[in-house]
Amino acid sequence: GGMGSIVVAVDGTSGSGKSSTCRGVADRLGLRYLDTGAMYRAMTWWMLQHGVDVHDTEAVAAYAEKPTLVSGTDPLAPTISVDGADVSVEIRSDEVNAAVSPVSTVPAVRERLVTLQREIIGEGGIVVEGRDIGSVVWPDAELKVYLTADPAARATRRALESGSTDAERIAATEASLLNRDRIDSGRAVAPLTMADGAVHVDSTDLTLDEVIDLVAGLVAERV
Ligand code: DC
Repeated sequence: GGMGSIVVAVDGTSGSGKSSTCRGVADRLGLRYLDTGAMYRAMTWWMLQHGVDVHDTEAVAAYAEKPTLVSGTDPLAPTISVDGADVSVEIRSDEVNAAVSPVSTVPAVRERLVTLQREIIGEGGIVVEGRDIGSVVWPDAELKVYLTADPAARATRRALESGSTDAERIAATEASLLNRDRIDSGRAVAPLTMADGAVHVDSTDLTLDEVIDLVAGLVAERV
């Protein structure tokens, strides 16, 4: 028991502040951090790189075992590599943004990545972010958080992160987020949903520090 073996599952929509929140909570509590979205992105990057049609379910499934994926779990310096090359920057491209949801719907992809995720979680002591962590990957998590924010707030944050306050850019970002939400929530396998026993946190009107305080407080209540 105790903090060293705790698993904190944080699920929620694209751009709800999951990554910043999870890294902040893990850093503060001395826990590891796993970004499962980065793993789906890395798988997608590999498919694009190898000319696999990401809308061809059978083709994606046929290659799902090929890439070697390694996730670093330091909350202050998370890393993701594919076949030995760090792709932390490449996986945030518009091309990957557009292709990751379709790749994530393929069952063979999910089976492979869920297995890897469970291996990394192992003995616990980790904050894990994604869409299906509390529902599928680790239903026994000591704490499950479902993190959301209004679409306009999410789009503005994402655009600011990429250094833009341009209205067109924000509108395009919002459309891209909503499109991913639609696919992530509507897919047959492991759709984004609020897991049994999850605590719903709406970050729309909270600062990042307030959200970190809130989640770290919930963790403290559970150990
Ligand atoms: O968290 P993110 O925006 O980086 O995730 C990118 C995509 O990966 C998201 O649109 C859906 C998919 N994903 C998933 O299907 N299951 C997860 N546990 C994490 C991400």
